[in-house]
Amino acid sequence: MSQDLFPIIGIDYVRHFVNNARATSFFYQHTFGFSITGYTGLETGNQSEVGYAMEQEDVRLWFSAPVRPGHPMAEKIAYHGDFVQDIAFTVEDCDLAFKTAVDRGAKVWHEPMTLEDDFGRVRIASICTYGDTVHSLVQRDQYNGPFLPGFRAENQPGDPIGIKAVDHAVGNVELGQMNVWVKWYEDVLGFKNMLSFDDKDISTEYTALMSKVMASGNGRVKFPINEPAAGKKKSQIDEYLEFFGGAGVQHVAMQTEDIVHTVSRLKARGVPFLSVPRTYYDMLPDRVGEIDEDIEVLADLGILVDRDDEGYLLQIFTKPVTDRPTLFYEIIHRKGAQSFGKGNFKALFESIEREQALRGTL
Ligand code: FE2
Repeated sequence: MSQDLFPIIGIDYVRHFVNNARATSFFYQHTFGFSITGYTGLETGNQSEVGYAMEQEDVRLWFSAPVRPGHPMAEKIAYHGDFVQDIAFTVEDCDLAFKTAVDRGAKVWHEPMTLEDDFGRVRIASICTYGDTVHSLVQRDQYNGPFLPGFRAENQPGDPIGIKAVDHAVGNVELGQMNVWVKWYEDVLGFKNMLSFDDKDISTEYTALMSKVMASGNGRVKFPINEPAAGKKKSQIDEYLEFFGGAGVQHVAMQTEDIVHTVSRLKARGVPFLSVPRTYYDMLPDRVGEIDEDIEVLADLGILVDRDDEGYLLQIFTKPVTDRPTLFYEIIHRKGAQSFGKGNFKALFESIEREQALRGTL
């Protein structure tokens, strides 16, 4: 493994800007099983916005919404719809991380500041990445309260479904911009390009895309970056860019250690997933060899399997969780494999294209 320019301990939280944080947090509580553990809003003295902090194992989500007209957040939500605005890193030293990134070319979203309450303090700064997305740099070694200073503790448990951690988060960027952002992650954060896919790897009869996976030195943060490639029809990346209004986060992959359990629970709670044709499972034994799981069970749930040199992985993708065809989730169960399911791309994209055709955007 290579050395980070500054130590990144992991993903601290994923923040969403949404129209209605109360309803959205309720959705994540009752489908994905997250617990609401922190709240900020009018009742806590926050006059401009509301925030719900949610947790399941190592995953923290933060849903923010403005509570008055004219809030700058409202403009972004009006433009993009609900979206992932911040993928934050836990760092050992916020000021060092911020200075290193800015010296190496990062644009500032906000300078380092100290948030403080009875539970201690957090030092936090944010730098801009693609589109309206930012990376906050969170130093929380002197804090033991709920989420962040300013949040009051909430005890509204979800019914967890075995989500353990954020595996990776994917950005869609405009045509010609993938290598620009690959270089940005190399130069500014010292990430390394761990995998690349071109349009020969990822193409169907109609659409194509290119992707490079950037990873932090310790491998805990993995960001694939996609750009559209020319195809006969509009690619899913083009569709995203059109409806989102530019570059942004396309999907967040959540790790589980029991994908059959996790996906069964999500399906029972009504979360819609992409489906693959039954023929996918006829070819599966030849393609991936021996696996621990019962293929009939995987077929019933629509779970995909892929193998690489190190092992195999199981994965599945939700349909968009937002009104626009933008943000969706992946559930991933790694059994040795450190890759991203290249062998599933074709089956998957054909599934996405069936959905696009229904939306009239293919
Ligand atoms: Fe993914």
